[in-house]
Amino acid sequence: MSVDRQPVLVTGANGFLGAWILAGLAAAGRPAVASDLARDTRRLDDLLAPDRQGAIRWRSCDVGDAEAVGTLVGDTKPAAIVHLAALQIPACRAAPSLCAQVNIGGQINVLEAARRHGVPRVIYTSSAAAKPRGPANAPANLYGVFKKTAEEIARLYWEAHGVRSLGLRPHIVYGVGRDEGETSAITKAIRAAALGEPYAMPFATQGCLQYAGEVADIFCRCVAADWDGALLSDLTTEQHSTDQLLAAIRAEVPDADIEPSDTIRVSPSQGFDNTVLRSVIGEWPRTPLAEGVIRTIGQFRARAAGRHHAAPAGST
Ligand SMILES: NC(=O)c1ccc[n+]([C@@H]2O[C@H](COP(=O)([O-])OP(=O)(O)OC[C@H]3O[C@@H](n4cnc5c(N)ncnc54)[C@H](O)[C@@H]3O)[C@@H](O)[C@H]2O)c1
Repeated sequence: MSVDRQPVLVTGANGFLGAWILAGLAAAGRPAVASDLARDTRRLDDLLAPDRQGAIRWRSCDVGDAEAVGTLVGDTKPAAIVHLAALQIPACRAAPSLCAQVNIGGQINVLEAARRHGVPRVIYTSSAAAKPRGPANAPANLYGVFKKTAEEIARLYWEAHGVRSLGLRPHIVYGVGRDEGETSAITKAIRAAALGEPYAMPFATQGCLQYAGEVADIFCRCVAADWDGALLSDLTTEQHSTDQLLAAIRAEVPDADIEPSDTIRVSPSQGFDNTVLRSVIGEWPRTPLAEGVIRTIGQFRARAAGRHHAAPAGST
């Protein structure tokens, strides 16, 4: 089987990024095996019509179960694994032990299966939360500590076993389907404006607000790329504040009823660097905030009008 015909295995496939990446792979003509605890195509159906999902096979698997992950990888023989399955904040805060099993145990299980079955590359989501910050010069919460640990596990799997990996650190991704996690507030504000509903921002912050279509495009390019080592990279260096987000929303929806917040959510604000990612995949089309907000508003409105599958895959 040629590498292009070997599937890409996507864990956490029911989730927000999983749906966007599956849609991007389908648009690029790459077969995929989508895996999650149990199949749920709710988010994917908003991006890709069910009759265009033929190249996607589904396999249920708990990434915390080493044997199940080994069987999944052995059966599917993927050209690459895109490992997204994780608990985010606040789920991680509510169930730290389970979060460790999924976010750390899952990382070990995926890399171990990649080692045993000779998978050429693993692309996994770390997070900007793994970045050191504050007086302790360390991640600020358990979620960040677990993501940092997952990065170290990938480094050791390269050093000890030659497993190639690329850890990507998204910060705040927005787009249709982003309904879980603390920073989904960014998408909820855009959605409310699109649908003419009021929304109170739970916090003010600044960070790398990035359109889901651009992020999916990056992952699809990584799947087709080659590298050696356990690489690690931010996705973007561009930052925006929630005030800039609200301005972008109001430029499109002047009467948007979005109440700003005085509660500051502390976020990493410096040291973003995507040189490594650019060295792996070259340059890609960026989606400026204003453009991403316009597209997302359009997609939410199309969905509300019953015109599903309106969100374009990839960066277009
Ligand atoms: N969305 C963002 O802005 C953002 C930012 C930084 C990092 N990340 C990381 O990117 C990845 C994907 O994020 P997302 O927004 O799509 O998250 P999501 O919460 O929408 O999706 C995560 C998926 O993982 C699945 N999952 C949870 N436990 C599992 C288990 N034991 N076995 C198999 N699957 C399991 C869930 O069912 C869910 O479908 C995560 O690793 C997340 O930490 C996301």
